[in-house]
Amino acid sequence: MLHTLHQHSTALLFLLSLWLTSSHGKCVFDEVQQSITVTRAEESTVKNRSTGSWAAKQSRTNIQRHPAVARGSASSQHLQVQRQMERAMMIAMSPIRIHTWIAQESSALSEVDRERLAVAVNHTVSIISSLLSVRHTAGPLLLSRDINKYCKFIWRNVSATNYNRCGRANSSYKNETCLSVTIPDDHLRGCAVFHHPDAPDRTELRHEGAGLNNTDFLLYVHIQNSHRCTTQPSMLAYAAHCQSDPLGRPLAGTVVICRDRLRHQNYRHDSTVQLLLHELLHVLGFSRTLFNTWRDCSHNIKGGGKCSPHGQVTNLDEEGQMRIYTPSVSHVLQEHLNSTDTTLGAPLENLDVDSAGLSSHWEARVLQGSIMSATLAEPSGVQIDQITLAALQDTGWYSVNLSRAQSLVWGQGEGSLFGSLPTCHDNMSLYFCTGSGLGCHYLHVHKAECVTDLYLEGCRIYKPLENKSECWKEKNQPGGVGWSGEIYHSDSRCFFSNLSKEVDPTLV
Ligand SMILES: *[C@@H]1O[C@H](CO)[C@@H](O)[C@H](O)[C@H]1NC(C)=O
Ligand SMILES: *[C@@H]1O[C@H](CO)[C@@H](O)[C@H](O)[C@H]1NC(C)=O
Ligand SMILES: *[C@@H]1O[C@H](CO)[C@@H](O)[C@H](O)[C@H]1NC(C)=O
Ligand SMILES: *[C@@H]1O[C@H](CO)[C@@H](O)[C@H](O)[C@H]1NC(C)=O
Ligand SMILES: *[C@@H]1O[C@H](CO)[C@@H](O)[C@H](O)[C@H]1NC(C)=O
Ligand SMILES: *[C@@H]1O[C@H](CO)[C@@H](O)[C@H](O)[C@H]1NC(C)=O
Ligand SMILES: [Zn+2]
Repeated sequence: MLHTLHQHSTALLFLLSLWLTSSHGKCVFDEVQQSITVTRAEESTVKNRSTGSWAAKQSRTNIQRHPAVARGSASSQHLQVQRQMERAMMIAMSPIRIHTWIAQESSALSEVDRERLAVAVNHTVSIISSLLSVRHTAGPLLLSRDINKYCKFIWRNVSATNYNRCGRANSSYKNETCLSVTIPDDHLRGCAVFHHPDAPDRTELRHEGAGLNNTDFLLYVHIQNSHRCTTQPSMLAYAAHCQSDPLGRPLAGTVVICRDRLRHQNYRHDSTVQLLLHELLHVLGFSRTLFNTWRDCSHNIKGGGKCSPHGQVTNLDEEGQMRIYTPSVSHVLQEHLNSTDTTLGAPLENLDVDSAGLSSHWEARVLQGSIMSATLAEPSGVQIDQITLAALQDTGWYSVNLSRAQSLVWGQGEGSLFGSLPTCHDNMSLYFCTGSGLGCHYLHVHKAECVTDLYLEGCRIYKPLENKSECWKEKNQPGGVGWSGEIYHSDSRCFFSNLSKEVDPTLV
């Protein structure tokens, strides 16, 4: 007699490809950016290069809180204007030219490591220039000297000819720095002392440098084993911007690459590029010190190139969640979540915030998988998403080709409450889980476990298992004939189900 044995069991079936596990430490960008002074070039130094170079005036950036709250209203009319403006700007703007410069104080690298670094940096820079366009800098890029450093006394009489110019040199002035890098004199404007408030006679302190041709942004790469590198276990790189143009657009920054990480046997190109991208997007504008300097160019399609400051773009919502309210960000988030709330702002991380409650990362519960969330997953699980690109568009400094965004999978069509603390415990959610059982990561290519982390604040999601989570790795296939019917293959995907497997008992 032939019996058929029905085995009911909970199993994981696997069918497509990719992977993910958390591999990086905490992003220290905010802490690093906070620690440095940014030098801002003033209008005159750019417009009046031939005559005004020696008269370069600088001011320290002054982060102000504007009382007015600019809540973006993404009405369709507004968006139409926005689109027209984007088209108009596309014409005037060209892909950003990022010049990378290896700092001379960098540690020596082996041939292999140097190659690794060059390939990763070039790849990152080419991704950024395919996404962001700017009005090209006319003439060579020259960085500014900080008058508060080279000068001991500044003429302060508004009606004097030499108003705001240096009256007495600071004899202990040495150089300008960008994070840990000494900026070569050749990249800097000159500076001079004016002996009288109204007379033209002056003494040159430093000559004008040659500057860098065909450059819109200067990225110093400093390879070292800094204190941050050695004290933070998985630190690979960190960055900050140190100079900006008169409109606030960052002009120069430094990325520190932790030398020993390049030598690591587990070095991976894709995770390095991902991290460099994350840090560079901070440096180029997605930074809490810059949010309130973003500019609104939407009412300016008729030309003239003048954009007005948005004012304050961040504000707390009714639940106490800090959000960014700018037109493009609001619009793409509504599309993503399929929300009709036209005043919806994109939530910022509410951990690791400054005294004003700001973070330079997106809220992990709502924008999990975004390149600008605080914890980066495996590269294939991270998107250069449309909300991040919209934010860069809303800086007013860039024209962004939004059609190049990798659309965010997390939370698609889930509505404006998605990811809020009360709703994440809903046990019917497609994205959140309850308990601590096994399941599948939301992109379905990893076996996963229901867990939480610091940034999820008690919400739980399926994160890849520590070992053998990848369903596309054939070597993860358990030995012998699997009772569960699991197949590990490059085409496998993870599904959580209770399978029935029919077994011929005559063969048992
Ligand atoms: C400021 O400069 C103007 C013009 O040089 C001069 O007439 C005036 O007395 C100065 N004021 C002060 C307070 O020094
Ligand atoms: C934007 O990107 C898309 C896709 O890469 C490309 O086809 C299109 O030409 C780009 N548009 C502009 C204005 O550069
Ligand atoms: C968006 O929401 C509307 C109702 O609010 C619904 O009819 C529509 O199917 C939703 N679209 C998507 C893509 O979820
Ligand atoms: C899911 O939630 C509902 C109501 O919140 C509850 O009655 C049910 O027991 C929960 N199911 C599980 C499996 O936790
Ligand atoms: C994963 O593998 C490592 C090394 O084989 C082992 O030390 C660790 O305990 C494993 N973790 C789990 C959760 O099985
Ligand atoms: C599969 O699981 C669901 C709920 O987890 C249960 O209701 C159903 O009876 C199970 N099916 C079989 C065939 O065991
Ligand atoms: Zn970061």
